[in-house]
Amino acid sequence: MKFLIAGFGYVGSALAAELVSDGHEVWGLRRRFTQAPEGVHTVEADLSLPSDLGQLPGALDAVIYLASPGGSDDALYRAVYVEGTANLLAALEAAGERPRRIFFASSTAVYGQHAGEWVDEESPTEPTHFSGKRLLEAEGQLRDCASASSIVRFGGIYGPRRTGLVDRVRTGVVQYRRGRYTNRIHRDDCVGVLRHLLAHPSPASLYLGVDCEPVDEQTLYNWLSGATGAPAPREAETPRGASPPARGGNKRCCNDRLLASGYAFLYPTFRDGYAAVLAE
Ligand SMILES: NC(=O)c1ccc[n+]([C@@H]2O[C@H](COP(=O)([O-])OP(=O)(O)OC[C@H]3O[C@@H](n4cnc5c(N)ncnc54)[C@H](OP(=O)(O)O)[C@@H]3O)[C@@H](O)[C@H]2O)c1
Repeated sequence: MKFLIAGFGYVGSALAAELVSDGHEVWGLRRRFTQAPEGVHTVEADLSLPSDLGQLPGALDAVIYLASPGGSDDALYRAVYVEGTANLLAALEAAGERPRRIFFASSTAVYGQHAGEWVDEESPTEPTHFSGKRLLEAEGQLRDCASASSIVRFGGIYGPRRTGLVDRVRTGVVQYRRGRYTNRIHRDDCVGVLRHLLAHPSPASLYLGVDCEPVDEQTLYNWLSGATGAPAPREAETPRGASPPARGGNKRCCNDRLLASGYAFLYPTFRDGYAAVLAE
């Protein structure tokens, strides 16, 4: 099969390696490749510039959209998620391309819940922060496009070399917020989920891409400090009358739909995933 991975970073490059080893033809797109990925055809293009998207590969079986803005800024989110998806969909249509399915990596940031509620694919999405708002706009465009689409709302992605939280625990600077949940997924499960859905005969239009155990920050940071021998983390001071967290909210994401689709997690919990990261 022939796949285009639009956004070829941490997850995209790892997914490409797996798809190439499965024997597929893989095209990777990003603005600049610093080195040629093995076995992957490359396209250097800016998704926010329609004029860059005139030379896409043809006869694609699926497109996987894994581009991510390099910073936390509404204009960047709009350019990469809203304009980027619109431009890519328009370019495919102009070229007469109708891939069997388009996959879009969204985020659990689309949920505005902030009291630790359980959420799933049917839960309301009323984000207050621009990150969730722009992702929802992009999701809407995918739903309206000519090809079938599947959206995966990933939680916080960690894994090899992406050790920001571990580093902050090690240096003792991390502070937990009491009662605040975090939903995570190891990079190799992001790859596994996408590979699983690419091979699925009739994937659903929406999945939550998180592991099997939402965990509160205190439990997670304590576990990491124990595993690394770092000092126990302290609780962050919460100003009286503080408003709900603007970004990320506070919710527990349920992955039942993904499990029911037949996906078996490599790292079902943060303990499994971070143990692997720490063992590297
Ligand atoms: N990281 C997380 O915790 C998290 C959580 C939930 C969902 N997600 C989603 O998961 C997906 C994969 O994330 P990731 O961690 O693999 O991202 P990443 O490592 O930051 O990679 C993003 C890729 O997008 C490319 N890109 C950015 N702007 C572009 C543009 N205008 N045109 C073309 N390419 C562009 C970047 O390459 P160039 O800079 O060379 O263009 C890079 O290859 C993303 O869709 C992200 O939104 C991530």
